[in-house]
Amino acid sequence: MSALALKNVTYRYKNSPKAAVSEISYEFMEGKVYAVSGHSGSGKSTLLSMLAGLDLPTEGEVSFRGNSLKDLDLDRYRRESISVIFQAFHLFELLTVTENVCFPMELCGIRPKDAKARAVSLLEGVGITKEKMERFPSKLSGGERQRVAIARSLASNAKILLADEPTGNLDSANTQNIVDILWSLAHDKGYLVIIVTHDSEIAGMADVLLRMKDGKFC
Ligand SMILES: Nc1ncnc2c1ncn2[C@@H]1O[C@H](COP(=O)(O)OP(=O)(O)OP(=O)(O)O)[C@@H](O)[C@H]1O
Ligand SMILES: [Mg+2]
Repeated sequence: MSALALKNVTYRYKNSPKAAVSEISYEFMEGKVYAVSGHSGSGKSTLLSMLAGLDLPTEGEVSFRGNSLKDLDLDRYRRESISVIFQAFHLFELLTVTENVCFPMELCGIRPKDAKARAVSLLEGVGITKEKMERFPSKLSGGERQRVAIARSLASNAKILLADEPTGNLDSANTQNIVDILWSLAHDKGYLVIIVTHDSEIAGMADVLLRMKDGKFC
C-alpha cells in the first residue's frame, strides 16, 4: 500500500482564478526518495503543504496509508506521522539550537535527558558543533540554520519526510552530507522522502523524479 496517495487533488487559493495544484493523482511508496522539481510558482510548496496536512485540497483526496486525511486527527498526523523541513526553516527563535531539536521529541513524551542526547547526536550528524548548539538560531548562518531544521525534522519518529529545498543554502560538502542522510533513511530504514528541489544533481539522484508544470506532474 502507498504511504501517501493523491487522488484527483486540486488546490485553489482564495481569490485566485487559477488552481495552484490541478487534478493530481499519484502514489508515494515507502523506501524511496522522490524529487519534485519545476519552475517557481508551479505548485510544489502547495503540494507539499497538502501532503503535510497543513491544507486540505479544494477538491480530491490525500490519503495516508489508505486513510483520507479528512478523517484523521490532523494535529496527531502532523505530530507523529510526518516531518517537514520548510522552505523558510521555521526555527523557534527564542529556543537554543539544541532546544529546537528537543522540542518535537518532548512533545511526543520523550524524557528531556534522552531528547537532549539524541538532539546532540543528530546535530553532530549534520555538522553543527557543540558550541553552536547552545546559540540562538539568529546567531547562525543561513546554511547552519538549514542544517538545524533538518536535524529537528529527523528527531521525530515519523517515517515520512517532506522537505522543501532542504539544501538551498548549503555548500556542496554539506549538501552531500544531507543527501547521504536522507537517502540512507529511505533505502536502509524504509522512510518515504519527498524533496522539492531546484538542484538538478539532487533531482538526478532521486529514485523518482517528478516535474511540475502549471500545477500538474508532466
Ligand atoms: N497564499 C497564497 N495566496 C494566493 N496564491 C498563492 C499563495 N501561495 C502561493 N500562491 C500561488 O500559487 C502558485 C503555486 O505556488 P507555490 O508556492 O506552490 O509554488 P512553488 O512551485 O513552490 O514555487 P517556488 O519554487 O518559488 O517555491 C503560484 O502561482 C503562487 O503565486
Ligand atoms: Mg515553493
